[in-house]
Amino acid sequence: MKIVAVANQKGGVGKTTVAMQLAAHLSRTFRMLVVDVDPQGSTTWWAQNMAAHIPFDFADDHDPGVLTRLRELDDLYDLVVVDTPGSLEDTRTLEAVLDAADYVIVPVVPEPMAIDPTLRTVTRLIEPRGLPYRVLLNRVDGRIPGQYQQWQTVLQDSFGLLTFQSYLRQYLIHAHAPMLGRLVTNLADTRRTEGSIADITRVGFELTSHLQSGLHSRW
Ligand SMILES: Nc1ncnc2c1ncn2[C@@H]1O[C@H](COP(=O)(O)OP(=O)(O)O)[C@@H](O)[C@H]1O
Ligand SMILES: [Mg+2]
Repeated sequence: MKIVAVANQKGGVGKTTVAMQLAAHLSRTFRMLVVDVDPQGSTTWWAQNMAAHIPFDFADDHDPGVLTRLRELDDLYDLVVVDTPGSLEDTRTLEAVLDAADYVIVPVVPEPMAIDPTLRTVTRLIEPRGLPYRVLLNRVDGRIPGQYQQWQTVLQDSFGLLTFQSYLRQYLIHAHAPMLGRLVTNLADTRRTEGSIADITRVGFELTSHLQSGLHSRW
């Protein structure tokens, strides 16, 4: 079992979106648990809107103590994804998650204001724990030529961050998904949805290749 934290002290960068959509995609191959430790409970709200369609197990627990017991679930799950709160002030819950994690996905949006909190998260909380991580560019605007390359260069070369090669583009489908109870696994595969599904699929492949050792597929 691997525990993957989705973390960035900056709010609104896509932590909840990445945790839920990636978990849905990976639930096709792995036994998945999603844990929501964010007191705002966005993931929990989303899960409630899913009715019976949620393709993974879900735990809503704001007591960081639960994290130390996650390893007891080793036989039940291949992968645990933990959605975390985004705050620069209260880092207690986030630190408890990182103490338990094997790997961190750090979503970021291509906006200058997002850089400083992202750097702080990586240099103060993730790197000192020796945790493997990758920054994941989210809300890339497909209409802006070169935006992805430019931001990859900034993140890697200017700030020395490790990044996913894959990225998520901005789609209305992602913005509406929590309210409508949608995940990539219950979206009709049409011309309107194919981009968002393809993006999540690519990130899923890249993540599993990073985690490969020790991960056992059900099949
Ligand atoms: N790729 C995307 N395309 C469109 N909207 C997005 C995308 N990623 C996130 N959003 C929207 O941006 C807002 C913040 O995302 P969220 O996942 O809640 O971030 P966080 O959990 O980091 O606060 C939400 O309204 C969400 O629906
Ligand atoms: Mg969130």
